[in-house]
Amino acid sequence: MALQRHHLSLLFIMFSFVACHSTVLFDDGSTFKDFIKQKSTDVLSLKKFVKLGDISSSLKTVNVNDYGARGDGKTDDTQAFNDAWEVACSSGGAVLLVPENNYLLKPFRFSGPCRSNIEVQISGTIEASENLSDYSEDLTHWLTFDSVEKLSVKGGGTIHGNGNIWWQNSCKVNEKLPCKDAPTALTFYKCNDLTVEDLTIKNGQKMQVSFQDSENVKVSGLTVTAPGDSPNTDGIHVTNTQNIQISSSVIGTGDDCISIVSGSKDVLATDIICGPGHGISIGSLGAGGSKDFVSGITVKGAMLSGTTNGLRIKTWQGGSGSASNIQFQNIQMDNVTNPIIIDQNYCDQETPCEEQKSAVQIRNVMYQNIKGTSASDVGVQFDCSNNFPCQGIVLQNIDLQLEGGGGAKASCNSVELSYRGDVIPLCP
Ligand SMILES: *[C@@H]1O[C@H](CO)[C@@H](O)[C@H](O)[C@H]1NC(C)=O
Ligand SMILES: *[C@@H]1O[C@H](CO)[C@@H](O)[C@H](O)[C@H]1NC(C)=O
Repeated sequence: MALQRHHLSLLFIMFSFVACHSTVLFDDGSTFKDFIKQKSTDVLSLKKFVKLGDISSSLKTVNVNDYGARGDGKTDDTQAFNDAWEVACSSGGAVLLVPENNYLLKPFRFSGPCRSNIEVQISGTIEASENLSDYSEDLTHWLTFDSVEKLSVKGGGTIHGNGNIWWQNSCKVNEKLPCKDAPTALTFYKCNDLTVEDLTIKNGQKMQVSFQDSENVKVSGLTVTAPGDSPNTDGIHVTNTQNIQISSSVIGTGDDCISIVSGSKDVLATDIICGPGHGISIGSLGAGGSKDFVSGITVKGAMLSGTTNGLRIKTWQGGSGSASNIQFQNIQMDNVTNPIIIDQNYCDQETPCEEQKSAVQIRNVMYQNIKGTSASDVGVQFDCSNNFPCQGIVLQNIDLQLEGGGGAKASCNSVELSYRGDVIPLCP
């Protein structure tokens, strides 16, 4: 332990020293920034290591196998998870361990509040029951963490929603069927001070992961996948959640990679790889005349490939409230159909939406360093409300070309726009 502390302070000294020289370029061509990034990762992992040594003695490990879980992929392990969770949640700090087997679960709620902080270590796979009658009580959730504070979920394992049966029964796939709801694979509801890292979420029945009514959330290292044609399978959904950071995640689904909706504030997404899917979306907002607010959204560092949208803000007519202080920075687009789009006439229903007077105000949106290719002629589209023009929209250093070569166009309606640096394309 003494040795580790020594290393830590040594790294810290190196770190502070280098921090004074801001333009160092290293022999191998890496930049100062890379170096710092590497060093801070080293420091962080070292810290984590030291911390793990400190706490593992005090945290009780609760292994689902000790509560009767079979992990054979066939037996229903819901009761065992329930029993293990009750023990973990009522103890003074515990690790709930899901070992490297395949556990089959019906809808299950990890309910809080718990007596102390909890870590859930998922090393294996948790797979969803495919029996639709298991979902008859609540059609909208499979796994839910409900009101668990200071929760950490990690472990490199997989949450597998077995969504195929739900997609086949979706009215978006088979128009003859009635439209019914389907479960979100993994929901965090009212989980303040939450960490979710290093997990794969796959083939969720509808949305893959949802963060709802939570504060202070750190998400990193997620791989979120569902087929590009699976209906409504949003990757990471953020609703009424404040102060959430989503970093270093790879998302490819049949709907939005990340969707951020009403009540969300201070959302930071960094180092995101997205595609296939519908891109990164703020909204939809203002559906059914609702009053919605979203602010302080930053997407910094993203690569979008083959998505139908890139950076989208979508609002229905007839709503109110605002979407404000939004920043999109350092984004690479690769054959994206609508790379930059604000759509204040969003209408996702069978009957056409009628013209209405009110709208959700869109204000202060900055697009900075956005490069790459558009699959459609229109690389930049601002379709803003006539009564509530988009205000304070800034395009800075934009370069969007057509995928097959040639310049993309911009289409601009009712927008107060300014340019900085080199911008291609410009509004007519
Ligand atoms: C589905 O669950 C119901 C109710 O628990 C049960 O009666 C039925 O046998 C199950 N179906 C299959 C295919 O396992
Ligand atoms: C670009 O995207 C379009 C529309 O999604 C698709 O038809 C086309 O094959 C893609 N081109 C390449 C080179 O991937």
